[in-house]
Amino acid sequence: MRKEFLDLRRQPIANKFLKEDEFKDEFFFDLKVVFDDETKLVSLKEFVKPELMFNEDYAYSTSMSYPMVKHFELTANMLKEEFNPETVLEIGSNDGPFIKNFDTKISICVEPCENFAKKTTDMGYRSYISFWDTDVSHGIKEIHGEMDLVYAANCICHIQNLDECFAAVKNILSENGVFVFEDPSLLRMLERGSYDQIYDEHAHIFSVTALNNILINNGLTIFRVDNLSVHGGSNRIYVARNRPVEFSVAENKQREYDFGINNFQTYEIFAERVRKSKKDLVELLTKLKGEGKRVVSIGATSKSTTVFNYCDIGESLIECITDTTPDKQGLLAPGSHIPVVDRESVNLNDYDYAFLGAWNFKDVIANKEREFVENGGKFITHVPEVMVFS
Ligand code: TMP
Repeated sequence: MRKEFLDLRRQPIANKFLKEDEFKDEFFFDLKVVFDDETKLVSLKEFVKPELMFNEDYAYSTSMSYPMVKHFELTANMLKEEFNPETVLEIGSNDGPFIKNFDTKISICVEPCENFAKKTTDMGYRSYISFWDTDVSHGIKEIHGEMDLVYAANCICHIQNLDECFAAVKNILSENGVFVFEDPSLLRMLERGSYDQIYDEHAHIFSVTALNNILINNGLTIFRVDNLSVHGGSNRIYVARNRPVEFSVAENKQREYDFGINNFQTYEIFAERVRKSKKDLVELLTKLKGEGKRVVSIGATSKSTTVFNYCDIGESLIECITDTTPDKQGLLAPGSHIPVVDRESVNLNDYDYAFLGAWNFKDVIANKEREFVENGGKFITHVPEVMVFS
C-alpha cells in the first residue's frame, strides 16, 4: 500500500524556464510523496506526463557542469577497464558527456529530448529520439544486437513504470552484460534533509533496498553498489542476470535498514524536518530583506524550483539567479519567476548573500567565488539545515 508522507505543494515543471508571455499557460501539479510499504519504494503520488518534462526545450545540459563532465569521464574509463564492453547503450544520454568516452562504432544513445539527441548524432553516435521502453529495446536489439553495457545516469529514477524499464533492459542485455545506473540516494536525502531532490522528474527516489526488491521481481540482481558524492549523494547500482553478489550490496541495505528506511515513521520525521526547513529559510530571508540586504541565488537548478515554490520565495526575497547554462539565461525560473542571468553579467559584490541553489556544488562554487567572500559576502544553504556561512 502507498502511504503519503510529504506535501511539497503546487509545483511547476522544474526545468521549464520561461518567458513572461508563457506564464498564463504554465503547468502546475501537486507534488506529494508516497512510501510503498511492500516494495519500500518512495515515489511521487502524482506523476507528470513525461512529454511535458522531456522535450526539445529541456534546459538541463550536463556538459554545462564541469564537475559532472569529469565525473562521467572517470566513470566511463572505469567501466571500460573492468568490463571491456563490445557494445554500449546509454539511456538518457543528454548531450553526451558519458558516451563521448566510447567509440562511435560500438555505442548507441537513447534520448527523448531532440535537442540533445541531435548533439550526440552530430558527434557521430547513433541516437534514437525516444523514451526507454520495451518497444525501443526490441527495435534496437533487432538492428544492433545485444548490449554488453547498458548505462544510465540520473535517468532511471525518471521512469515511472520501473517493471517495464527493467524488462526492456533485460531484453537487450547480453548474457554476461552489465547494467549500471546512478541516481540520487534516498538514504542521503533523508540524512541531509535535502527535500529538493524531490521534483517532477524524480518519479522515484531510490534506496538500494527498494531497487533490489523490484529488480529481483524482474529476474535481475544487484551485484555491487558504489556510494557517490555527485548530486548531493548518489548510488551507482551494478546489475546483471547472474553475477556473484558483492559485500557492498548487503552493507548498503544494512545501513538503510539501520536508518529506518523500511519504517513509515522515518518518513514522517523527515516531513517534519522539511516543514521546519521552510520556516527557517523564509524567516531568514525575510529578516535579511528587512535589514535591506540583497540576496542572489547561484545555480538555477531543478532543486531550487522545489525550494522556491514550496517556500513561496519570489523576486522580493531573492533578486535573481545566476547560471552557467546559456539556455536558462534571460528566462524566468519556473513558478517563482525569479530572473535567471549569466553569472558573467552580475557583479556578485553588489550582493550581501548568495543562496546555493546548486548546494551540491558548494565547494566548487565557494572556490570560484572567493572574491565575493573576501568582500564580506556570505552564502546561505538549507542543507543539511538552514544556515549562513562564509
Ligand atoms: P544540478 O545541481 O542539477 O547539476 O544543476 C546545476 C546547475 O547549476 C546547472 O544549471 C549549472 C549550474 N552551475 C552554475 O551556475 N555554476 C557552477 O559553478 C556550477 C558547477 C553549476
